[in-house]
Order: sequence, then C-alpha cells, then structure tokens
Amino acid sequence: MLRSAILTAAGSGSRLGSSLPKALVPLAGTPLLVHAARRLLASGEVTELVVTAPPAHVADVRAALVGLTLPDGGEPAVTVVAGGASRQASVAAGLAALPPGDGTVLVHDAARALAPPEVVARVARAVAAGHVAVTPLVPVVDSLQTVADGTFVGGRVPDGGAPTLGATPRTTLGVVQTPQGFDRATLDAAHAAARAAGVDGSDEATAATDDATLVERAGHPVHAVAGDDLAMKITTRRDLALATLLLEEHDDDQRDS
Ligand code: CTP
Ligand code: MG
Repeated sequence: MLRSAILTAAGSGSRLGSSLPKALVPLAGTPLLVHAARRLLASGEVTELVVTAPPAHVADVRAALVGLTLPDGGEPAVTVVAGGASRQASVAAGLAALPPGDGTVLVHDAARALAPPEVVARVARAVAAGHVAVTPLVPVVDSLQTVADGTFVGGRVPDGGAPTLGATPRTTLGVVQTPQGFDRATLDAAHAAARAAGVDGSDEATAATDDATLVERAGHPVHAVAGDDLAMKITTRRDLALATLLLEEHDDDQRDS
C-alpha cells in the first residue's frame, strides 16, 4: 500500500517577489519546502515523497531535501520531478512519477510550510477510513461580497469603485487548505478526466487550483476535516513575516510543554 505525498514546489512565487523560487525561500534559515516535507514525514503517515520543482531548479530542490528522516529514524524515498505550467500540471507530473500501487496519496503545497503533522495525520486517517477525497477546511472569518466578473483589476477594486451584487453568508463556507488526501486510483482518474475534458493544466487561468475540486468534478464526494491556521498559504512578504512569528511562537510553546 502506498503512503505517498506529492509536495508541489514548482511555482515561481511571483507574488512573493524573491529572486529564488518560493519553495526555496528561507523561513528561519530553512527553505519552505523543507519545513513542509519535515512536517509531512513527522506525521508518520508518509514514507515516500515526490516533489515537483521548477524545471531550472530540480538539482537545487534535490540538494535541499538531503537528510530527511522518518520518525523511526529510517530514510524516506524522495523523488524530484520537473513541474508543469500550473499547479494542476505539476501534480499530474508528480502522479506520473509515483510507483504503481493502491493506497493513499496526499497532495501538499510547499507554500503551506507550517502545516502541522496533526493535520497531515487527520487527512490520512480519513482516507484510510474510506473517504476517497479529503480536504482540511478552516472557517471563513471575513464577510463576503459578490461583484461582477472582471471587477477586480490588478488584484483590487479599481479607483472608480464598483457596484456589489449581494453578500454571501459565511457560516456555511470553509477555506480550503492542504494536504488533501486521496485514494490513489480516484485521484489518477480525476486528473485523466480533467485532461479528457480539455482542462490539462497547460493554462494557469483555467487549471484547477486544488485536487479535491477535480475529484468533485469527477462525481465523488469530498470529505472535510479540521484544518489549522498554521497551514495557511505563504503568498506574500507579509505572509512570510507572519509565518516567521508563528514559527517562533510555536517553538516557544513546544519548549514550554
Ligand atoms: N506550484 C507548482 N507548479 C506550478 C505552480 C505552483 O508546483 N506550476 C505549487 C507552488 O510551488 C506552491 C503551490 O503550488 O507550493 C501553490 O501555488 P502558489 O501559492 O500560487 O505558488 P506560486 O505559484 O509559486 O506563487 P505565485 O502564484 O505568487 O507565483
Ligand atoms: Mg501560483
């Protein structure tokens, strides 16, 4: 039985604005993808990692991952592959590099560097319990408004302002995090169905931004488990600063307990 994780690390991090690809940007001196990989392995639920790297940085990513250990002291199997034009295409490349077999596959963003091992274990356990697709969720904390498609220009409402189309109650909405967990055959089939429908991930504008969405489109239910604020996605400099604080705070808590 597979106990694998695909760690997506092939993005450029354009919104972070670093000269390094985002997954290699240091957080407290350690690259984001190493933080993410350590926490995946610390869950005890993952023995094999497939990591997607920016095509020009496959060797750098491989070098960053040397020395990872499993909770029992053993060594995980680590494969690094070149990612694709979108996250969806990168995950597809990761799936293609997995050895054949049944079991659980987790898909996790290196950008969610601090996702705790407890969340990883919760997701993996839900798949083992029979859910073919599992996503961590956290509640939405802000009020939500709808605007017409095309209103946001350059990531903001334009200077002239814009009408709103109506508020959406947030009480039934959740924010999706990773790692998401899947029955391997179900995830393979969902990616194949997306490709057959013409959504092959070659265009970031139409590619799926997470894998549970693809499984849902293929007609399967997606099960939710509790996410964690620490599994937030690091997108901007501000997120990186916040992650630095959260890491310090968390390390202090660990020392105190
Ligand atoms: N990712 C990937 N392959 C891509 C694009 C993204 O593997 N072609 C990965 C990123 O490395 C990240 C995760 O998918 O771990 C989520 O993507 P995002 O946060 O958007 O990261 P980037 O695409 O790197 O950032 P940006 O969108 O700001 O350029
Ligand atoms: Mg991106």
